[in-house]
Amino acid sequence: SLLYLSAVIVGYLLGSIPFGLVIIRMAGLGDIRTIGSGNIGATNVLRTGRKDLAAATFLLDSGKAGLAALIFMFAVSSLNPPIALLAGASALIGHCFPIWLGFKGGKGVATYAGLLFAGAWPLGIFAAISWLSIAFLFRRSSLAALATAVLVPIVGWALGYTGTEICILLILTLVVFWRHKENIKRLLDGTEPKIGGKKSEAK
Ligand code: G3P
Repeated sequence: SLLYLSAVIVGYLLGSIPFGLVIIRMAGLGDIRTIGSGNIGATNVLRTGRKDLAAATFLLDSGKAGLAALIFMFAVSSLNPPIALLAGASALIGHCFPIWLGFKGGKGVATYAGLLFAGAWPLGIFAAISWLSIAFLFRRSSLAALATAVLVPIVGWALGYTGTEICILLILTLVVFWRHKENIKRLLDGTEPKIGGKKSEAK
């Protein structure tokens, strides 16, 4: 219906705002795509040495997906988690494949967190604990994200989320894996840089 179509379009457009790119450019630090891994996300913004800008990137990227989910959860259709997840999922797709950057965007980690907190908060809490524990133990942002992305649909199923909701989460996990192809190669050959490592260590 029109409601679902507008969730997809509004979600995609919100998600496609590349906050990491904009913030680094506004700070006069150049093009984030030429730094570190070349990614536009918070992990790579941290490689500039600016923790504040990395935090801002994470908050804005997760916030845009959370906002997309919340708009359709409350304003448009009262407390309808599937459409909230659909809007948030579209934001994640917009973040990973933004039309403005030739469809080459980020890796979908902050947006995944944002849509979970807004559309399925128990899973948001689980994902935060999972990401933080794995990042603390192994010091690799990508590894923490990949492992958490696998666990989220499983834990969602265990917590009783519906088939539609689990399907959306599984697709998002696949997108996150697809966008982490280079990270997966580096993790396997042991060259993935540690969180906050120097930019020369990545790519
Ligand atoms: O947040 C994305 C993270 O999982 C990997 O980022 O820059 O290390 O490729 P990066």
